[in-house]
Amino acid sequence: MGGARDVGWVAAGLVLAAGACYCFYRLTRGRRRGGPGLRLRPSRSAEDLTNGSYDDILNAEQLQKLLYLLESTEDPVIIERALVTLGNNAAFSVNQVMIRELGGIPIVGSKINTPNQSIKEKALNALNNLSVNVENQIKIKVYVSQVCEDVLSGPLNSAVQLAGLRLLTNMTVTNDHQHMLSSYITDLFHLLLTGNGSTKV
Ligand SMILES: *[C@@H]1O[C@H](CO)[C@@H](O)[C@H](O)[C@H]1NC(C)=O
Ligand SMILES: *[C@@H]1O[C@H](CO)[C@@H](O)[C@H](O)[C@H]1NC(C)=O
Ligand SMILES: *[C@@H]1O[C@H](CO)[C@@H](O)[C@H](O)[C@H]1NC(C)=O
Ligand SMILES: *[C@@H]1O[C@H](CO)[C@@H](O)[C@H](O)[C@H]1NC(C)=O
Ligand SMILES: *[C@@H]1O[C@H](CO)[C@@H](O)[C@H](O)[C@H]1NC(C)=O
Repeated sequence: MGGARDVGWVAAGLVLAAGACYCFYRLTRGRRRGGPGLRLRPSRSAEDLTNGSYDDILNAEQLQKLLYLLESTEDPVIIERALVTLGNNAAFSVNQVMIRELGGIPIVGSKINTPNQSIKEKALNALNNLSVNVENQIKIKVYVSQVCEDVLSGPLNSAVQLAGLRLLTNMTVTNDHQHMLSSYITDLFHLLLTGNGSTKV
């Protein structure tokens, strides 16, 4: 399985340089997935990165594709998968830096605005993993107020509320950004009183 995937990936890389028609030929030949709704070439290979069969740590080029996909697609399923893949990759410190350097934090951060709670949650989870890096925190802090609002207005004990609380926890492990929470402290204490066990933790 892994070998087949690698071959598919290498093929995709080669043909990027070789031209669009040839690319499509190799891609559809090298991969089993040729289902309905064939997409543009760049999204297609990037989508494969998001589909859970790709557990490896992604390299810069792959992360870039994933970010491009995340920025350009409107399909909620793809957005969610791309966010999960990015979040998993952001568990590694090398990738935390890489994603920041590729300009990925605002791309992920913009997804916490979506009304879709499931996508919002995945974006918060990805930001949470990205936030385990001091320089990333500087970029993530612009979202702290919004995360506070969301946490306080979101459904009690919901997955999205917990994801927001985890991010706020990680953002306040150092003293640098704690002051940003000051105006929300009363409401957060209220949440501590009303939330169930998971929320209190
Ligand atoms: C992911 O991609 C692989 C190979 O392209 C395919 O075999 C598998 O069915 C896909 N999985 C999902 C969940 O789409
Ligand atoms: C939210 O996104 C998920 C995919 O991640 C999708 O299945 C669901 O239909 C979306 N919900 C709405 C209301 O668009
Ligand atoms: C975040 O990182 C943890 C490990 O630190 C990992 O278990 C988790 O799957 C990662 N992904 C998300 C989306 O939180
Ligand atoms: C930050 O978030 C990650 C992922 O959820 C978690 O594993 C980690 O314990 C948190 N770190 C701190 C210091 O809270
Ligand atoms: C808190 O509530 C959420 C949502 O209803 C639930 O999934 C979770 O298991 C609850 N946690 C505890 C400790 O009761």
